[in-house]
Amino acid sequence: MCGIIGILGSHEVSPLLVDALKRLEYRGYDSAGVATVDASGRLDRRRAVGKLINLSDRLVHQPLPGQAGIGHTRWATHGAATEVNAHPHQSGRVAIVHNGIIENFRELRARLADLGIQPQSQTDTETVALWTAHHMDQGMGPVEAARATLSQLHGAFALAFLFEGEGDLMIAARRGSPLAIGHGKNEMFLGSDAVALAPFTDRITYLEDGDHAVLTRAGVQVWDAAGQPVDRPVARIDVGATIIDRGGHRHFMAKEIAEQPVVIGDVLNHYVKGDRIVLPEGLDFVALDRVTLVGCGTAHLAGHVAKYWFEQLAGLPCDIDVASEFRYREPPLSDRSLFVAVSQSGETADTLAALHYARGRVARTVGLVNVGTSAIARDSDTALPTLAGIEVSVASSKAFTCQLAVLGVLALKAAHDRGRIDGAGLAAHLRDLRAVPALLAQALALTDDCRTQAAWLAQARDVLYLGRGALYPVALEGALKLKELSYIHAEGYASGELKHGPIALIDGDVPVVVLAPHDALFDKTISNMQEVMARNGRILLISDAAGIAAAGDGVTATLALPTGGGVFQPILYAVPMQYLAYHTAVAKGTDVDQPRNLAKSVTVE
Ligand code: F6R
Repeated sequence: MCGIIGILGSHEVSPLLVDALKRLEYRGYDSAGVATVDASGRLDRRRAVGKLINLSDRLVHQPLPGQAGIGHTRWATHGAATEVNAHPHQSGRVAIVHNGIIENFRELRARLADLGIQPQSQTDTETVALWTAHHMDQGMGPVEAARATLSQLHGAFALAFLFEGEGDLMIAARRGSPLAIGHGKNEMFLGSDAVALAPFTDRITYLEDGDHAVLTRAGVQVWDAAGQPVDRPVARIDVGATIIDRGGHRHFMAKEIAEQPVVIGDVLNHYVKGDRIVLPEGLDFVALDRVTLVGCGTAHLAGHVAKYWFEQLAGLPCDIDVASEFRYREPPLSDRSLFVAVSQSGETADTLAALHYARGRVARTVGLVNVGTSAIARDSDTALPTLAGIEVSVASSKAFTCQLAVLGVLALKAAHDRGRIDGAGLAAHLRDLRAVPALLAQALALTDDCRTQAAWLAQARDVLYLGRGALYPVALEGALKLKELSYIHAEGYASGELKHGPIALIDGDVPVVVLAPHDALFDKTISNMQEVMARNGRILLISDAAGIAAAGDGVTATLALPTGGGVFQPILYAVPMQYLAYHTAVAKGTDVDQPRNLAKSVTVE
């Protein structure tokens, strides 16, 4: 999703802005731009469609001098990815960059039209620049004009303003979308997240919802949503944790898949001590009557797996919903329930809104997040870090398995608190969970076999994934990964559901990936697989050695996972889902780390 950077510096800022935008590339974008104020006070901008290299080329041929500037990577919401729609938007003496959506932009535009002011672009954002310029034309100073404009806006946004003739001024505002301020030595910075600011400073102030800030090189003043001056704390960030490199891998995704044994180990070291589960105070399941899990995309599917664990291990009814549906459905919530928002970024707009809906209606809210400084972490009663480390590839891999590991620990805690398992039972499940990192390390060896199978999948137009029980959401995740990385149409189904409609899709051209560990549900899933084979369907069976031996002849190909992990086997089965999608994308030559149309952090509805 859109990335914002702002610098009041002591050197030429254009190259620094582009470098910082590179660190935000992982969020996903389709055009980029920068604006600067030069030594004579002149405000100017350069913009380019596509990758940042296009903007860099433009800047080589048309340099943009100045020591104050703002930059932006745009993920199109209103208006196509064209140069005219790219940010910064400039009108008169102001340039702005924006992340989010100005929901009342049509009304704002209509009122501008009444004043005889016409936009150049199709964006909602340009109205912010036009209104600010209009207020300045009416005699307001930059700060007053920006405030007047902010008071007109509805929606979610992070905004940065830069002004002609004001080489030592930048205004920042945050409503919904994240924005951080970096403190330098006679320099100030602004960024969508700490990752963008890490090369400049480790001293960060996170703006709160509704804040706006006036930055000069001497420092920053912040006002809250009520217009009152406030002191926001300066936090020291661990710059090492923001280092972004591929570690010798061809893609970030390959690196992140390979990191899973280590990061899952980190999760277990953090939450499990011996045969004890260690969670923050207040997470007691004795008095709870329900768990509600909410997330989007892959995070939602992690919650879907955990539903099986909460219900089967802890006997605790569990609801799972996609955040965008949950928030508007007005679901009745029990004041004895636990609400868990699952999110890698911790900034996903729908998940954050769902959390806000739940607050005050449930016994406790938990944010299960990978970014500890995120809005979901801050706004939850309890934040549980998923400790995956920074995830750069847009398609989630290690964040998913770390979410599963933390949710597994939570479900075990619930089972123990509620007397469904005793100390010995807990110790046995924890042994299974602790075996997962080593089993994952073995599962990584499947990469070569997955590359071989990917040559087959890459030829397909459609692919089906089947799973049963807690492997059903993993099948959904496999289909989601394949779609987003390789652009091949894929669907996941509960194995038993196939004959109720989707079986009509089966012919010899549709690969069917079957997830079937040799467990209590194995025979049922294999029957469903036979139904596919009886209709010329071609099967890629993913199981363990015993399952592959028991499945009999007729499958086109197999992938063998190690045995072990108990009820936490779904964590292992995520690995072939990731590698099949990854290698299929590589075979097709798609952009693995930044698939088309996708954004890493989805801060709009
Ligand atoms: C898929 C993927 C997305 C995210 C979803 C939620 O690979 O990464 O489906 O899982 O956009 O994002 P977070 O977890 O940041 O809330």
